[in-house]
Amino acid sequence: MIYLDNAATTKVKPREVIRAVTKALEEGMGNAGRGAGESSLGSARVLFDTRVALGELFGAESPMRISFASNSTEALNTAIMGVLDPGCCAVTTAMEHNSVLRPLFRLRDEGMKLIVLPVDEKGRISLTELEEVLKAGGVRAFVCTHASNLTGNVNDLYSIGRICRRYGVLLIVDASQSAGVFPIDVQEMNIDILCFTGHKGLLGPMGTGGLYVREGVFVRPLKEGGSGIHTFDERHPLDMPEALEAGTQNAHGIAGLCAALEYIKKTGVDNIREKEQTLAKRFYDGIKDLPGIIFYGDYEAKDRAPIVTINIEDYDSAKISDILLMDYGIETRSGGHCAPLMHKAFGTVEQGSVRFSFSHKNTIEETDAAIQAIRDMVL
Ligand code: ALA
Repeated sequence: MIYLDNAATTKVKPREVIRAVTKALEEGMGNAGRGAGESSLGSARVLFDTRVALGELFGAESPMRISFASNSTEALNTAIMGVLDPGCCAVTTAMEHNSVLRPLFRLRDEGMKLIVLPVDEKGRISLTELEEVLKAGGVRAFVCTHASNLTGNVNDLYSIGRICRRYGVLLIVDASQSAGVFPIDVQEMNIDILCFTGHKGLLGPMGTGGLYVREGVFVRPLKEGGSGIHTFDERHPLDMPEALEAGTQNAHGIAGLCAALEYIKKTGVDNIREKEQTLAKRFYDGIKDLPGIIFYGDYEAKDRAPIVTINIEDYDSAKISDILLMDYGIETRSGGHCAPLMHKAFGTVEQGSVRFSFSHKNTIEETDAAIQAIRDMVL
């Protein structure tokens, strides 16, 4: 089987990650912050080491500004529901995944003003338009993705951060498709809240992830419960990182994430990205001149997430994915990819599209097999 659905989750994890999770389960872990024994302390140490590694990867001012969450969706819900309310105004983009759109639409239905920046024919937003909207005033936050899960287009967070800062607007970033693959520096990019998942480019287990919250930014906790601190307070503590972490943390998974972060540091984000971009570009070049192929995204851009999304004429995308799977053993993702506004913009709501997404664990041979499969289908 050739797995080209890495934007959904990276299926092949480094050996170190597998070993770390296995070790955590085999040796057992205590409940971090819930005991004075070696087991609980050991668990707390793993959580702390992981916060340190995440803080380092994202350029956070302190590891204590990183809270764990079970995935980007939980992190984004925490961020969006925690800083916005029905009385304010927020701006987002048509590039977003439902994990951004649905919490925002819910707040909009409760009275929040929501402005959605449109995309052009290549799926790009206009920063001039963003500046115009923010200049008009009254916007509390701009919520946007770093890289589109549909097109692979990457947003220029340096420029976006500067614009947001200029107009005093909070910047909330969805790094689901970029963390571990693209350099992120929350200080340099003026990111106020960064939401990430552990199971994609960070190469960790599912059920891990989190959010960075800039010092001075208050996020109302979405969940309240046990925190291991301030037991006799009636309300959940507001100290980071516990403020956004109610209940027992996924220490077994986080042990795997910690090992994944070490692997990424050793391998190098740039090396990982270059390998993935090389494979995605090879695939694109191998099929770009074939008849009947429609591409979605900006393939001229300098930086792209390792995603190539296509249709073949007006064939149903699910059918194409099925043929790739059944006849060629190639796993892709078809349909709407939880990105409804992008499909509306591209006119592909009915057809969906077929997405090929690469990991640095994929090979040239696998990429060439995918090229050959498309060639067979259209020639
Ligand atoms: N958000 C993931 C994807 O794009 C699941 O496939």
